[in-house]
Amino acid sequence: MGVSGGIAAYKAAEIVSRLTRLGADVHVIMTAAATRLVGPMTFQGVSGNPVATDLFAEPRRWNIEHIALADRAQLVLVAPATANVMGKLAAGIADDFLTTTILATEAPVILAPAMHDRMWRNPIVQANAERLRRAGFAIIEPEYGRLASGALGQGRLPDPESVVEVVVQAMFRPKDLAGVPVLVTAGPTRERIDPVRYLSNFSSGKMGYSLAAAAAERGARVTLVSGPVDLPSPPGVEVVRVDSAVEMAEEVWRRAAAAQVVVMAAAVADYRAAEAATAKLKRGSGDLVIRLVPNPDIIGELGRTKGKRLLVGFAAETDDLVINARAKLAAKNLDLVCANWVDRAGQGFGTDTNALTLIDRSGGVLEVPLQDKRAVAHAVWDRVRGLLGAGETEVLVPPAPDPCLPSGDGQC
Ligand code: PMT
Repeated sequence: MGVSGGIAAYKAAEIVSRLTRLGADVHVIMTAAATRLVGPMTFQGVSGNPVATDLFAEPRRWNIEHIALADRAQLVLVAPATANVMGKLAAGIADDFLTTTILATEAPVILAPAMHDRMWRNPIVQANAERLRRAGFAIIEPEYGRLASGALGQGRLPDPESVVEVVVQAMFRPKDLAGVPVLVTAGPTRERIDPVRYLSNFSSGKMGYSLAAAAAERGARVTLVSGPVDLPSPPGVEVVRVDSAVEMAEEVWRRAAAAQVVVMAAAVADYRAAEAATAKLKRGSGDLVIRLVPNPDIIGELGRTKGKRLLVGFAAETDDLVINARAKLAAKNLDLVCANWVDRAGQGFGTDTNALTLIDRSGGVLEVPLQDKRAVAHAVWDRVRGLLGAGETEVLVPPAPDPCLPSGDGQC
């Protein structure tokens, strides 16, 4: 556990104490700034282990000690994580015991940032957080509340109990999808109208990539069919990159036959240009009219040929969330629909967080509260795991091609 120099360092002692009482062998590394706020002896007392503060301190064999801790750690938690430590990690700087250990470890790393809300909102800090997320670090969002300055804002370290819960979840995540073949879709599709322009939407792929990563963490064999997004492939996931809805349909239908669970989180464009221009469209004096034709209903076709496969869809809505989601569940023959408000703060397109209402075909409704998309993804898999039961996977016949796949002339 790393402790860096924020006022919330005092809460870190309670976190260490709770983890130790749960049976964890906690080794604390403090930054120099943290030692100005809380004494190392406090952490030594609650962890029962020596506290590392200085790479060069005797009698440590400094050149191997940080590697030894990096090797031994099953998980690294940094709480509080200051803007300074996050910045150093994002830049790959290793100039003290904590940053050196983290860069040297292969264990999962969870950062719990705590700082003044203006610092947290600073675009540089946000860019660093984003970079760290992309590198696989998990980030526990700071809470809204009264800050050390007395002002109200988002920047507080969540209470120790919540932080410990996240650690326990991460360490003891069950491999309850071991060997289950899973197909996930993510991102937008691009529908070309000429060689340099396309129709698309604001999907970043974060929800679908989180679902794929979470399933892989739980032992599933995951294939991710991804629209054009700027995200790295999740570890252990086979990624198939596509551009248009037609390409996505072809890849999904071909691969769905081998999947026991299909989760369609992609924001597939419902229409494409009837004929994409072969030369760049020129600006004219009047209106430009582009005739659109429907794209294949990828999930609808999977629903028609479902067999025992478990089919999960999303419903992106701006009104009547539950009514519209229930209608999609029925119309597309889904087992579970993840109803997603997409016009509310912190939810839907492009955000790091999300909230969902999960509705299954027997009418069961589960609210997944606003949280990091990875945590939301695990809540979806918890529900899927419950629905899977002990049934055997049926070998499925691939669905017939959708009548709306384009022919050579671009028509349906
Ligand atoms: O990618 P992010 O930035 O993280 O944003 C996440 C998200 C908002 C895109 C995601 O959470 C989400 O809601 N995905 C579904 C978006 C969508 O297209 O919803 P829909 O209600 O229009 O479609 C219903 C379902 O049909 C979806 O499962 C969709 O994948 C599927 N579909 C849609 C159109 C189509 N032609 N074929 C399909 O299979």
